[in-house]
Amino acid sequence: MEINRSVLGRVLLGLYLLTGCRQEKDRELDRLDMVYLDSSRLKVEVLASGLEVPWDLEVDGLGNLWIAEQKGKVSLMNLKTGSLKHLLTLPDVWQERTSGLLGMTVHPDFMGFPHVYLNYTLKQGSGIVSRLIRYTYHNDTLIQPFVLLEIEGGTSHNGSRLDFGPDNKLYWATGDIHDFSNAQNPQSLNGKILRINQDGSIPKDNPNPNSYVWSMGFRNMQGLVFSSNGMLYTSEHGDAIEDEVNLIRKGGNYGWPNIEGKEDLDEERDFARIHNTLEPLRSWTPVIAPAGLTYYGNKAIPEWTNSLLLTTLKGKSLRVLSLNEKGDDIISEEILFENRYGRLRDIVTGSEGEIYLSTSNLDWNPQPGFPLDGDDKILKISRSDETSTSPLSPVKAQQGPLLSGSELYLSYCASCHKEDGSGIPEIFPSLKDSRLITGDPSALVGLVLKGSESSESGQQMPSFAFLDNRQVAEILNYVRGEWSENMQRIDPDFIEQNR
Ligand code: HEC
Repeated sequence: MEINRSVLGRVLLGLYLLTGCRQEKDRELDRLDMVYLDSSRLKVEVLASGLEVPWDLEVDGLGNLWIAEQKGKVSLMNLKTGSLKHLLTLPDVWQERTSGLLGMTVHPDFMGFPHVYLNYTLKQGSGIVSRLIRYTYHNDTLIQPFVLLEIEGGTSHNGSRLDFGPDNKLYWATGDIHDFSNAQNPQSLNGKILRINQDGSIPKDNPNPNSYVWSMGFRNMQGLVFSSNGMLYTSEHGDAIEDEVNLIRKGGNYGWPNIEGKEDLDEERDFARIHNTLEPLRSWTPVIAPAGLTYYGNKAIPEWTNSLLLTTLKGKSLRVLSLNEKGDDIISEEILFENRYGRLRDIVTGSEGEIYLSTSNLDWNPQPGFPLDGDDKILKISRSDETSTSPLSPVKAQQGPLLSGSELYLSYCASCHKEDGSGIPEIFPSLKDSRLITGDPSALVGLVLKGSESSESGQQMPSFAFLDNRQVAEILNYVRGEWSENMQRIDPDFIEQNR
């Protein structure tokens, strides 16, 4: 008996070592980089790869990471075992360029209410609809779809992000669907933050008890998060200038399209006075295309405690925006990972203070040098005692004047026409064979100062009238030097005459 029992024990122990024990230990992940902060060391590892534009990441209270991919796929990763399960592909999602499955959040009490909320675009008749839907998680699948709300969708600027507030209401950041009349129209649900009961009804304590609108005056938000003391922050894409991070107040008007960034022009100040608008905490010109936003309240990385972590697409970086104690001001900005992993779409903080972020190198706007092998990926950032001979460190952001024509071109033009001037077929024209560049300079200056809308693609070339004469001249001389034989220089006076 004695012997038998110990044999059995040894067999069980062996089995345990082979299976269970491996799962208890941290899984071995590919380490990409080490980051050295003032006193903390962080490692950056690949948690998942081979994804396609993971637009939204969420963590639930049960140790799972939720992943929404733009084409309509929802997956669940058990963060302890690393197992990744595909739960659902939305059957009717309409995905092109920046539309598709965009926002996702899970119920804050997921154990009691295993609900997942999704926002996606679909075609209905000849129109596009942006739908807010709830699914129930059951036996590794998502069932019982229940539509909470549908608003008008568009071919672009559909946002979006979803999150629960500390009041257990659902907050939805919607886009203006590229229609300038929406954001300031209180009847339209586009270009707004909407506040919604869990069953899809309107909360009685909204600014207007008959409207979902919580705050207005937005263009295209890509980030929305509550801090641990209940403040609501968003990130928003500006047009050619003035990307923003906003602190959201009940009933607030944030000014788009009449105000871009801070209220620094006469017309903007006039509008602000009449409409009592609020200014962003920070704005960026040249633009960085700010996207996912998480509030870092954890003590695990003390250098980042009480900051907003912001991923950027165009900026291809992570921004650490430290908040003051009250949370109503950004007191410093640091840049990390610039150009290292490509476009960064979303970010979320895990329960132990670890951070997950997703790359977006397979989206509609690929950058030179990307995608990298295995894109798109989910990266994990966590504390580590490991060392590296070539660690990364954040650099302080500086908002200085840009000087050369090529730098100005990269900041203001390359997002559409690309670094090498080749554009994107059928979306943004190539500058290489452009008659406007080789020809009469006044037509070229007119286009850059006034902007234009393409009759073929419907895409807009924004107006660059906000640049000063010297900057416009620098850019155009650079463009003509690169992509035409016409070496006749354009000087700042000539720009002034064409304003
Ligand atoms: C947001 C995207 C975007 C940005 C940024 C942008 N453009 Fe354009 N650009 C366009 C679009 C769209 C068109 C086509 C407009 C049309 O057909 O009416 C265009 C057309 C042009 C053309 C004419 C090309 C042709 O068809 O011959 C030139 C030249 C040009 N842009 C230069 C610039 C310069 C210089 C900058 C930076 C100061 C710039 N663009 C920034 C979108 C952009």
